[in-house]
Amino acid sequence: MKLWITGSKGLVGTALQNRCQAEGIDFVATSRQELDISSLKHIKDFLHSPAGKDITHIINCAAYTHVDQAEKEQELAHQINAMGPENLGSAAHQFDLKLIHLSSDYVFGIAGDRPFTETDSCKPVSTYAKTKYEGEQRLLEVLPQACILRTSWVFGQGGHNFVSSIFNKIQKEEKLYVVSDQRNRLTYVQDLSQAILSLLCHSGIFHFANQGETSRFEVAEAMIQAAQDRGLPVACREVFAVNSSAFPQLAQRPLYSALDTTKIENLLGISPRTWETTIKDFIHAI
Ligand SMILES: NC(=O)c1ccc[n+]([C@@H]2O[C@H](COP(=O)([O-])OP(=O)(O)OC[C@H]3O[C@@H](n4cnc5c(N)ncnc54)[C@H](OP(=O)(O)O)[C@@H]3O)[C@@H](O)[C@H]2O)c1
Repeated sequence: MKLWITGSKGLVGTALQNRCQAEGIDFVATSRQELDISSLKHIKDFLHSPAGKDITHIINCAAYTHVDQAEKEQELAHQINAMGPENLGSAAHQFDLKLIHLSSDYVFGIAGDRPFTETDSCKPVSTYAKTKYEGEQRLLEVLPQACILRTSWVFGQGGHNFVSSIFNKIQKEEKLYVVSDQRNRLTYVQDLSQAILSLLCHSGIFHFANQGETSRFEVAEAMIQAAQDRGLPVACREVFAVNSSAFPQLAQRPLYSALDTTKIENLLGISPRTWETTIKDFIHAI
């Protein structure tokens, strides 16, 4: 078995490589500079090259993830998020490879009233969300046996994520204003990497996230507590809950798009850790 991890410099791609190294799993990883997933020719050339030899699985961690910027770069977001998975799926079909593709809770729209299951209908709103959803559909058309793993609010060391940003702010700023009207499930990138590796021989759509719903505001409070418990310097004295309207953004974000993870829990016999535990782990690893 040999994995090909795309998007190797991203948050998930980096963590997945670390996990493979720790578990002694053979892999090759490519960054955007080394391989552009929006080019089918690049993908096929790579699979014909010595580096692409003996690959059995593609894990697509590459994506256009700048949610606001996507509104201004719709064509580019489409090339990467919609065409990229289709290209990888076509290549996986031709070279007889398994493929795991990462997708997002954003495909469901902006205001759910209960956790979304894999069979719930999708109503993506922003360009990022629409292109991610189109990528899922295009992939399944060319490779019906693909595995799609949807996740939400991914955080971890390195890479852009709001948990890391909040952590930086609590060390520098005395007062923090944090959004409290968007609720979701956090996903620690270490736990997500483990879930990806557990799905190597499965196909279908799955959801994965850590246990419990939260808000950025609650995350900020939990981080301050965890940092203080660890004896880390905390400048922040007060955290204020504000509505998302206080921070207008170009792209609409879901107020609630928590993923129901029952399917993967039953399949793998796992129980995701609580988000509070993973925040403590994150602080501990700093
Ligand atoms: N982070 C989250 O909260 C979250 C939530 C739900 C789902 N997801 C999904 O999880 C997956 C991984 O996300 P992430 O958080 O690891 O994102 P990330 O940190 O932005 O990593 C994505 C990587 O893909 C690369 N990339 C962009 N365009 C590419 C192209 N045309 N060809 C090859 N590589 C390209 C990026 O390179 P550059 O930086 O050089 O552009 C970046 O290194 C994505 O599918 C994302 O939609 C993430």
